[in-house]
Amino acid sequence: MSDPDNILNGFESKFSLIKNKDDLQNLKSEFLGKNGSISFQFKKMGSLNPEERKIFASKLNEIKNKITFEIEKKLKNFENNEINEKLKDEKVDITLPIRTTKNGKIHPVSQVIDEISSIFSEIGFSVAEGPDVESEYNNFTALNTPEDHPARDMHDTFYLDKDKKTLLRTHTSPVQIRTMLDGKPPFKIIVPGRTYRCDSDQTHAPMFHQLEGLHIDKDITMGHLKGCLNYFIKEFFEVKKIKMRFRPSHFPFTEPSAEVDIGYKIENGKIVIGEGDKWLEILGCGMVHPNVLKNTKVDPNKFQGFAFGMGIDRLAMLKYGINDLRAFFETDYRWLNHFGFDPLDVPTNYRGLSR
Ligand code: PHE
Repeated sequence: MSDPDNILNGFESKFSLIKNKDDLQNLKSEFLGKNGSISFQFKKMGSLNPEERKIFASKLNEIKNKITFEIEKKLKNFENNEINEKLKDEKVDITLPIRTTKNGKIHPVSQVIDEISSIFSEIGFSVAEGPDVESEYNNFTALNTPEDHPARDMHDTFYLDKDKKTLLRTHTSPVQIRTMLDGKPPFKIIVPGRTYRCDSDQTHAPMFHQLEGLHIDKDITMGHLKGCLNYFIKEFFEVKKIKMRFRPSHFPFTEPSAEVDIGYKIENGKIVIGEGDKWLEILGCGMVHPNVLKNTKVDPNKFQGFAFGMGIDRLAMLKYGINDLRAFFETDYRWLNHFGFDPLDVPTNYRGLSR
């Protein structure tokens, strides 16, 4: 057998054993490389006469082409397999069927928190948060509530240790402290959140929700507080006018302090908010006490402002005609189906808050 035939046989037996791209590259340089078998044969041609050389050369070229073709084909094969493997690994199953039943509902309290946040964001308030487990200091002392102050008993506090140093916050007011200690004035925040008191009946639950408001700047007055609350109540209850009254009150952390009532009446068994001769207490408020500012490193000679706190559950009950507070926390799906909201119906001031 001539040398070129040997080459082809040698190639074919080695080619059949190829397992990967590396093997193939090695085989390629063994046969087609600069110092490979084919080049070696071409170099040998010089010793042949012209006639023999012609036949030899054309045979050798034929073999070279054949080997090149086989190698390229195999290489493509390896590359395609690589891509297919990769695609298999990175495959995303987009065939998950959609759910045809709408099971989830937004709890009225969550809905009302979204509504409130939207209303206050319109006038420049941002939302702040704090933990449910608070220090006694943030919940009482820093808020100007001395050790023997009756407010401590009034709040029916759940303490978490014997020394009464940690507790479940009894109001959202400690977030005033956290916010002011954490930054520099001005402050303009609302704080929706869970609060706890040892109390339970038709209108009180041991866990309930409050909304705190705090606005501190150089010349914030009681007038701003009134304007702000008036705007909020009108927007929230979606009424044009609201009857509102401020009654003098007392909180250790505000001076002066007030409680705010809104007017209402009952018409055809339904409550109408904003008019009528009955009064409903909805929140406590006042000008932040200078001691609270001092406790949070805010200079009371330069800065002043208001704070308010209201019960969110109560607002939700009034707006959506829910009459037992305890139902909020019983996870009764029939109740939630009735009073809950569509998850996609996010409240904004532009689209309307509730529909
Ligand atoms: N923290 C008070 C309460 O829970 C409400 C309040 C907040 C009053 C801020 C005045 C200022 O009753």
